[in-house]
Amino acid sequence: MAKTVTFKDDSTGKTFKYPVLSGTTGPDVVDIRKFYAETDMFTYDPGYTSTGSCESKITYIDGDKGVLLHRGYPIEDLAENCNFAEVQYLLLNGELPNAKEKVKFERDITLHTMLHEQFHNFYSGFRRDAHPMAIMCGVVGALSAFYHDSLDITNPEHRRISSYRLIAKMPTIAAWAYKYSLGQPFIYPRNDLGYAENFLYTMFATPCEDYEVNPILAKAMDRILILHADHEQNASTSTVRLAGSSGANPFACIAAGIASLWGPAHGGANEAVLNMLREIGDVKRIPEFVKRAKSKDDSFRLMGFGHRVYKNYDPRARIMARTCSEVLKELKIKNSPLLDIAMELERIALEDEYFIEKKLYPNVDFYSGIIFEAMGIPASMFTALFALARTTGWIAQWREMIEDPQQKIGRPRQLYTGKTKRKFVPLKSRK
Ligand code: SDX
Repeated sequence: MAKTVTFKDDSTGKTFKYPVLSGTTGPDVVDIRKFYAETDMFTYDPGYTSTGSCESKITYIDGDKGVLLHRGYPIEDLAENCNFAEVQYLLLNGELPNAKEKVKFERDITLHTMLHEQFHNFYSGFRRDAHPMAIMCGVVGALSAFYHDSLDITNPEHRRISSYRLIAKMPTIAAWAYKYSLGQPFIYPRNDLGYAENFLYTMFATPCEDYEVNPILAKAMDRILILHADHEQNASTSTVRLAGSSGANPFACIAAGIASLWGPAHGGANEAVLNMLREIGDVKRIPEFVKRAKSKDDSFRLMGFGHRVYKNYDPRARIMARTCSEVLKELKIKNSPLLDIAMELERIALEDEYFIEKKLYPNVDFYSGIIFEAMGIPASMFTALFALARTTGWIAQWREMIEDPQQKIGRPRQLYTGKTKRKFVPLKSRK
């Protein structure tokens, strides 16, 4: 028998019945698409804490258990056994690639890593100290001006080629933002390098000598990209879906996602964590900052802690912590004051009643900054790195939305508490 819920309007005594839809796992949803038409009322859920915006088959999170699945595979298994290209293929196509499909996919992406030469002019329009995320917002949006051959989102081939161009070019765009900030020449991607390796190559090579990427660091970066690839309907993914629901081209939608990710409550947290650890400066000052994080009168929050969905340890944070130790060991960094502060901060917070009661645990951003800084990547580039990894997830979610027969333009309503209709006051009569 179909599951339903009944809603009773106590002011009129009227009752309304709504279907309950079940997924393959996770919470059921109440289908309220007819709610306004039948009750003349809106539901109200700022921040969408209890609202499902879409049906999806890509990523599943169980926040209470700290579970993250991509197309049914646990993130721990993917991080351990795959490279990023396999996870990209999985997110886009629903299944892991076989050996032949993997080679073809990697080649297809590799052949789109270069940027049109005129993009040099876009970079030179920015100040050298422009934030890399400002550059990425601008340059990614501008891509739509160069690919008139693939802007028809109703054409599957256009969707495929635009997806590949965005996924392939994002590391080049991010690395060139870094090179531009240094005043160093742009380094062209190489077709003989993998995705993560190519990114590190374009970040740190110079035309003056051969540069070989440290394979341990390339592997660590590849794993970090896997951990950041997709995460259900987070703020930036929801931004991409909402922008795409109007029929906007994928380049514009991904530029919107980059803008949303930039916020310190979201992808900008990795940069904010490093700035916070630097501000704490010494393990002896940790209690002072934990006290501030708990105070209602202080807007300070422990960056890298807490999550809308995870009310348990973010499974990605555990893998990031392990990767952090591996990278520091490979780089022969015996003691990292920032890591000491981070680990002591985590220990104290996880024993503190406030954090336990509010179920605040380290999230994916807590350790990433320490790893990136050890690799020689500046804090201003951390969110750009998150964006280049998340582009695959954004694209997979965008394509799923476009191909969803139920897809409509997203247009939320509101609870209006402003002025009701009033008599106009001409300028001469205004006091
Ligand atoms: C990402 O959605 C995703 O999936 C995002 C992401 C992804 O992969 O896409 O996982 C990536 O964005 C991770 C989160 C990175 N952000 C940060 O680390 C910034 C610090 N964290 C917070 O600002 C906060 O925890 C959020 C934004 C992550 C979640 O906020 P919510 O779900 O809106 O929760 P909330 O702000 O309502 O907090 C609940 C309570 C509040 O106290 P009360 O009002 O109930 O008394 O917990 C407190 C908050 O004050 N709280 C914190 C805290 N986070 C929440 N207190 C101190 N330090 C914190 N970090």
